[in-house]
Amino acid sequence: MLNSLQAQPEDKIIRLIEEFKGDNRRDKIDLGVGVYRDSTGATPIMSAVKKAEKILWNRETTKSYTKIAGDESFRAAIVSLTLGHSSPSDRIASIHTPGGTGAVRQAFELTRLAAPDARVWVSDPSWPNHLSMAKHVGLPIETYRYFDQEARSVDFDGMMRDLASANAGDVLILHGCCHNPTGANLNRSQWLELREQVAAKGIIPLVDIAYQGFGDGIEEDAYGVRTLAEQLPEILIAVSCSKNFGIYRERAGVLIAVAESAKASDLAQATLSHLNRQNFSFPPDHGARLVTMILENEEGLRQEWLHELETIRVSMLDLRARLSAELRQLTGSDRFGFLSSHRGMFSLLGASRTQVLEMRKRAAIYMVSDGRINVAGLNKASVAILAQAMVKAGL
Ligand SMILES: Cc1ncc(COP(=O)(O)O)c(C=O)c1O
Repeated sequence: MLNSLQAQPEDKIIRLIEEFKGDNRRDKIDLGVGVYRDSTGATPIMSAVKKAEKILWNRETTKSYTKIAGDESFRAAIVSLTLGHSSPSDRIASIHTPGGTGAVRQAFELTRLAAPDARVWVSDPSWPNHLSMAKHVGLPIETYRYFDQEARSVDFDGMMRDLASANAGDVLILHGCCHNPTGANLNRSQWLELREQVAAKGIIPLVDIAYQGFGDGIEEDAYGVRTLAEQLPEILIAVSCSKNFGIYRERAGVLIAVAESAKASDLAQATLSHLNRQNFSFPPDHGARLVTMILENEEGLRQEWLHELETIRVSMLDLRARLSAELRQLTGSDRFGFLSSHRGMFSLLGASRTQVLEMRKRAAIYMVSDGRINVAGLNKASVAILAQAMVKAGL
């Protein structure tokens, strides 16, 4: 049996991690993988998380299974963090999934059960897993224009024009904030306009929100998803706790399904629980437990976490401003000004594959082949090194 397997396409980010590890140059710079790094290059455990772990260690008396849909208090805390009061609770179903990836995957599985002919609309470009998982699950895929390469901002007209050919019931993947990989995001009036079009056409949004708190702030970053959830009859939301709680390997995420009625939400809840049972049975609990303790503000942990998250957000903004100022000085132009208006960990530099490889070869700077950088991989010193390498590579 195993002899007949066909090789699967390689994941370019996983490959990049391996190549970076294999590079012996001491001054190498990793701008590839999407994890937050502090100024020393470490991905620290947040102090609120560490404190919650200590409390949990003393308190936990069993490692028996939790619930198939995950712990209710965790799901309630995440629904509240993401949606605030924007949807009536009797229309909300949810499951705890292994990370945001698990939530997106379960959203696709749910779509396949409910509407196998629905097309999934993915932004061009997007996080590569959107396309590959939709394909893996067997859903028809369409892409829509998203990024204006010249202006290095959202091509909103192109996006709306492409979405005009979506059918009722098609699923539209949107990044809630901090678009990966472009860093370019919808503004508030664009979210409102998009909502009108989505409502008029009967499109079902699937909002993937993996970076709440990394862009403009914890509440501000939820503006888009809340705006949609307030008025649309149905919406799916894939939430990741990996980045904003720094608990990548704990695999904590939630899929939220807002249904048209309480009755439909009961059916969605039962189906989502069934999907968990079929795919992995009980979700991992440790990370979810920590997130719940923090969000419920045990021993003031919520405030501590918010403060740490804000420090991370501000440090990324600072690196963005420094890089764009450095490039302004080196090039005498403002063509990299977009770096400081983008939000989140990522931006697309506009580098060709050849330029990316040249920077890797000459300066040991690792970024994804499409020119995506993780801004958090920089520090005050490496900003100048990157800027010089970019200019040398002819950017
Ligand atoms: C857009 C987007 N969605 C979802 C995820 C999922 O993250 P995780 O599965 O680690 O929670 C990521 C992580 O890179 C992402 O960038």
